[in-house]
Amino acid sequence: MKKYLVIGNPIDHSLSPRLHNSWLKQNNINAKYDKIKLEVDEIESLINKIKQKKIAGCNVTVPFKKKVIPYLDKLSKEAEQTQSVNTITFDGNDLVGHNTDIFGFTKAIESLDFAMKNKNILILGAGGVVPSIILALNEMNVSEIIISNRTKQKAENLKFFFKNLKIVEWGRLPDFDVIINATSIGLNDEIINLDFSKSGKNKLFYDVIYNPAETNFLKIGKELGNKTENGKTMFIYQAYEAFRLWHGVSPKINNEILNLLEND
Ligand code: ATR
Repeated sequence: MKKYLVIGNPIDHSLSPRLHNSWLKQNNINAKYDKIKLEVDEIESLINKIKQKKIAGCNVTVPFKKKVIPYLDKLSKEAEQTQSVNTITFDGNDLVGHNTDIFGFTKAIESLDFAMKNKNILILGAGGVVPSIILALNEMNVSEIIISNRTKQKAENLKFFFKNLKIVEWGRLPDFDVIINATSIGLNDEIINLDFSKSGKNKLFYDVIYNPAETNFLKIGKELGNKTENGKTMFIYQAYEAFRLWHGVSPKINNEILNLLEND
């Protein structure tokens, strides 16, 4: 039986095994998908196991999306542009790093009734997922992308790859049409220390977090009369694209699958 994995740290919260194992069953594919918590010094030996084909494919989550890159043979264009890998596949005997987060975010935005063209976007955070979001937003022809991160230097570093960014101090709230929480604030019910009450209405508040389904950031956004969306659709579509890369089949996204992600 073929074996697939997601690696990360922490990994307990990951719903990827639930999603992939259901799709494997639905498609009568004889394989199993597990999750493994790794320490950083264990990455190389894990990747060697993949090279020996003991593992058929691997998803990579926080905080290893960049750290796996030196051990891979090739990168897809998107993985190269973002220096972020969340899916590892084989091309013959070569290990290839892909980035399906970009596809996930793009599909999530497409599924909303909200035109991104010529909009001002404010991203809170500068961590692992942000380059993927910026790349996807650039394809949507947004007007301006502003980054605000607690550690300003990390936001400045993104300019090396993406020239069109504007950086503002953490704690400042410039005008925006869309605000994206890409920090980890909210995973444990924390509140972002920003006053959104003067930002106007009918904006889009998007949170990359999907568990909890409604962070305080989304709750406040909704109370103030804005459209809100969590990271669930992005999560499902990054998995969908990984499944397609490994198995050559487009898995179904139906109520059975959506319900799987609710029962916690
Ligand atoms: P990494 O930074 O290792 O890539 P991540 O989970 O992808 O990890 O990113 C976490 C993001 O949440 C970062 O932008 C982080 O800000 P710093 O770069 O300053 O660390 C942000 N973050 C986490 N906790 C925060 C807090 N209490 N206040 C503000 N920002 C926070």
